[in-house]
Amino acid sequence: MLDCYMSSQLRFLLNQEEHFIDQTNLTNTLLEYLREHGSVGTKEGCGDGDCGACTVVIVGNDGKGNTHYQAMNSCLIPLGSVAGKSVLTVEGIAKEGLHPVQEAMIKTGGSQCGYCTPGFIMSMFAAYYSGEKTDLAVEGNLCRCTGYLPIREALQSLSEPSPADPFLDLLKQPLLKQQESEGFYHPETLAEVFDLTKNHPEAHFIAGGTDLGLELSNKTRTFTDFISLERVAELKLIRNDSDALEIGAGIPLSQIETKLHGLFPALDEMIHWFAARQIRNRATLGGNLGTASPIGDLAPVLLALDASLKLADASGERVIPLATYFTGYRQTLLKPGELIVSVIIPKTLSENVSTRHSFSYKVGKRGTDDISIVAAAFCVDLDEQQNIVKARLAYGGVAATPIRALELETYLTGKPWNLETLKEAKRQLAETFTPLSDFRGSANYRNKLIANLFEKFFFQFSEVSA
Ligand SMILES: Cc1cc2nc3c(=O)[nH]c(=O)nc-3n(C[C@H](O)[C@H](O)[C@H](O)COP(=O)(O)OP(=O)(O)OC[C@H]3O[C@@H](n4cnc5c(N)ncnc54)[C@H](O)[C@@H]3O)c2cc1C
Ligand code: FES
Ligand code: FES
Repeated sequence: MLDCYMSSQLRFLLNQEEHFIDQTNLTNTLLEYLREHGSVGTKEGCGDGDCGACTVVIVGNDGKGNTHYQAMNSCLIPLGSVAGKSVLTVEGIAKEGLHPVQEAMIKTGGSQCGYCTPGFIMSMFAAYYSGEKTDLAVEGNLCRCTGYLPIREALQSLSEPSPADPFLDLLKQPLLKQQESEGFYHPETLAEVFDLTKNHPEAHFIAGGTDLGLELSNKTRTFTDFISLERVAELKLIRNDSDALEIGAGIPLSQIETKLHGLFPALDEMIHWFAARQIRNRATLGGNLGTASPIGDLAPVLLALDASLKLADASGERVIPLATYFTGYRQTLLKPGELIVSVIIPKTLSENVSTRHSFSYKVGKRGTDDISIVAAAFCVDLDEQQNIVKARLAYGGVAATPIRALELETYLTGKPWNLETLKEAKRQLAETFTPLSDFRGSANYRNKLIANLFEKFFFQFSEVSA
C-alpha cells in the first residue's frame, strides 16, 4: 500500500524550472539548497526564522482552492517539505526586467547595505499580489541600516498588478504532480499516516516545521524519517457549528487569522502577536501544542476557552480536555504514533451567563516576532447581576507547562466582578506560581506580570476606570 505514495525522487519548481533533489539531502534546508545551486540572492542572516533575509515565496493554497503567493523563511523549510511546490526567489522575479516591487524600492531608497533587501522584496512581492500593503507584510523582515520609512513608502507606493502581469498567470499553472521520497513521507489521509507509523515507528511528525526547522537549520538534531502532516485532509478541516468551533491541527495560523477572525477575540489577539507573517504562513496549532513548550502562546488561549483536543492513532480517536494534555515539562498525554487531529472550542454558555469577557495578552521584549516573557488569557462569564459564574485564568511562561490558576478560579466563582474581587485576585495571583528567572525576565518581574495582566483585563472589561 505504501508504494502508491512513494516514488524515487523528489522534485519541485524553482523559478519555474524543475529541480530534482538528492535523497540524502531531504533534511537540508531550502536555504542551503538555494545557495548551493546559485540562487545566492537569498541571504542567511540568523538561520532561526527571526530576520527574514532568507524569505522566498511559495505558491500556496488559501484553503478555499485558490492559489496565492506566500512569503516563507527558507532557513526553516526542510527540502523534503518542498516536494511538488513552486518556489520563487529574488532572481526569479526579475527574469524579464525588474519587478515593480524592486523598482519601488529603488525609487524610495529602501536599500543601503542591501543584505536584508532580497527578503524584503520577496515579502513585498507576496503583498503586491495579496493586496496586504501594510507593515504586517514585512513584520518578519529586519533592516539595520536603511530605517523602515523608505521601505514602508515603497510598499505603500505599489499599485495593483496589471491583468497582463506574468506572475498572475503563473498562479493559474498547475503545480507539479506531488512526489514522494523515502525518508520524507507525504500522506494525504490519516489512514495513510497510520500505515506509515506502523512501518516507520521511529519517524517524526512534521507540520509547518517552524519549530523542528530550527533543529535542522542549526544541525542540533538528526532525524531518521519524517512524516509530513501538510497534506493530510483530516487535519485541514474547519467545523464552525452553533455549539463549537473545530479547527484542524494542520491549518497554518495565517489561515486561522483570516478565516476565523472575529469568533474568539482572545485567539485573534494572540495570533496577531504570534511570530511574523512568514512563520504564521507555516506554523500550525498542532505544532504549537505538539512542542508542549511552556511558552507556546496558543495553549493559554485555548486553556482559557476550555478547548478539547481530538487525538488519533491507528487504534482510533479520543477527545481529551486540553486541561489534562500537558503532564510535565514538554510532556503530554500523546502516545507514540498518536497525533492531534483538531482543537475543539466550545461556544455554548451556561444558561445563567449573560456576558462573557475573554481576551489574551502577550508580553515580550519586542512587539512582533518575539517569544513571550509571560502570555496570559482570561475568560470570565458573568450573570445579570455581574457575579462571576465561571472564570478561567491561563498563563504561559510561569511554570513547566502552560497552566491555569485553578484555586483562584474556584475562589472567584460567585464573587462580584468588582474592585474588591480584583484586589484579592491580584493578592492570590502574586503567590500562585513560582516562575523562573532567565535572560528574558526575572521571577519577580514575571510574578508582577501574572497579577498585572489580570488587572489590565479587569479594567478592559468593567465599568470601573483605573
Ligand atoms: C522566528 C520564530 C518565531 C516564533 N514565534 C512564536 C510565537 O510568537 N509564539 C509561539 O507560541 N511559538 C512561536 N514559535 C514556535 C513555532 O513557530 C510554533 O510552536 C508553531 O506553532 C509550531 O508549529 P509547526 O507546525 O511549525 O510545528 P513543527 O515544527 O512542524 O512541529 C513541532 C512539534 O510538534 C509536533 N507536531 C506537529 N503537528 C502535530 C500534530 N498534529 N500532532 C502532534 N504533534 C504534532 C512535531 O512532531 C514536532 O515535535 C516561533 C518560531 C520561530 C522560528
Ligand atoms: S536567515 Fe533569518 S529568517 Fe532565515
Ligand atoms: S539595507 Fe542594510 S540591513 Fe537593510
